[in-house]
Amino acid sequence: MTVTAANPETETMDLYDHEWKHPTVVAGVPWKNPVGTASGTFQYAAVRWFYDVSQLGAVTTKGVSPVPWEGNPGVRTAEGPACNINAVGLQNPGVDHYLVDDLPKLKKIGANVVSNVAGHSDDDYAEVVAKLADSPADMLEINVSCPNVSAGGMSVGTDPVALSRLITRLRKMTDKPMIVKLTPNVTDITVPARAAVEAGADALSLINTIVGMRINTRTGKPIIDHVTGGVSGPAVLPIGLARVWQVRSALPDIPIIGIGGVDSGEKALEYLYAGANAVEVGAAALFDPVAPLRVACELDDLLDDRPELAAKLAEGKTWR
Ligand SMILES: Cc1cc2nc3c(=O)[nH]c(=O)nc-3n(C[C@H](O)[C@H](O)[C@H](O)COP(=O)(O)O)c2cc1C
Repeated sequence: MTVTAANPETETMDLYDHEWKHPTVVAGVPWKNPVGTASGTFQYAAVRWFYDVSQLGAVTTKGVSPVPWEGNPGVRTAEGPACNINAVGLQNPGVDHYLVDDLPKLKKIGANVVSNVAGHSDDDYAEVVAKLADSPADMLEINVSCPNVSAGGMSVGTDPVALSRLITRLRKMTDKPMIVKLTPNVTDITVPARAAVEAGADALSLINTIVGMRINTRTGKPIIDHVTGGVSGPAVLPIGLARVWQVRSALPDIPIIGIGGVDSGEKALEYLYAGANAVEVGAAALFDPVAPLRVACELDDLLDDRPELAAKLAEGKTWR
């Protein structure tokens, strides 16, 4: 994957001894800084060797389902120009395992945890939310936007009626701040955004991956066995920015977490100017596990020169 190297000006930055200057608040939850990890690209067991993840604004964990899921068979990933394509299919060990493993470990070190919720049906989502409702998770992120599962995921997030029904049901089950994660694979993202907010979402996160594929020219067949996958990485930055801009224009008050192609403080800053309250760093962490912390440090320093924006973020407000 072609990637932007770490900003040479900040390459020597001390990532491990940074005093946070610019906190924010997302849907009432304080974040040390406006940078979190994006679901599916963070695994505590692997990343804990590299840095103290409790230094991040939030840690968003891999989507959890009511029972363990094996994900899709065969080849699941491919590379593309400035992007990566995955069809993992929400492989995860299930919510019961999450409640005794990742979640308590992350809470023990003081991390702000966003638990990402996956399902193949409304009942699946409800079962996971019921179990997380009494857990120490700080926020829930409902993934109605995965393009790699045959039921649930994106099929819910592209149908405003189904989305409204699901979020209305989940809203009654928990007081935890509930983020709804939206797909960009729609004509007008403000339609599902509005449906989610009217049904009780406390915040929106966008974007999840964009449907794409690659072909193996030796065989003439798709590289990924699932045929299509979700595109992420630097190439999707302009798409994520446009979606955040559109949703912010339509819904001036809802907290938004901007996702897609963030691999530097500068790119995170673009999302904040587009109207996001915070960002999540995804694919960048697949090749550089420290990327989320580096982005957070770079952004923290960039905000020094933007006191008006920093003041708005500190109050949980946005630039636009
Ligand atoms: C390997 C992989 C697994 C992912 N798994 C999930 C997931 O379980 N739940 C979810 O909501 N998003 C998932 N995503 C989407 C990311 O959280 C993010 O929305 C997307 O990759 C765009 O951001 P990026 O360009 O920074 O990667 C996954 C992405 C990748 C690359």
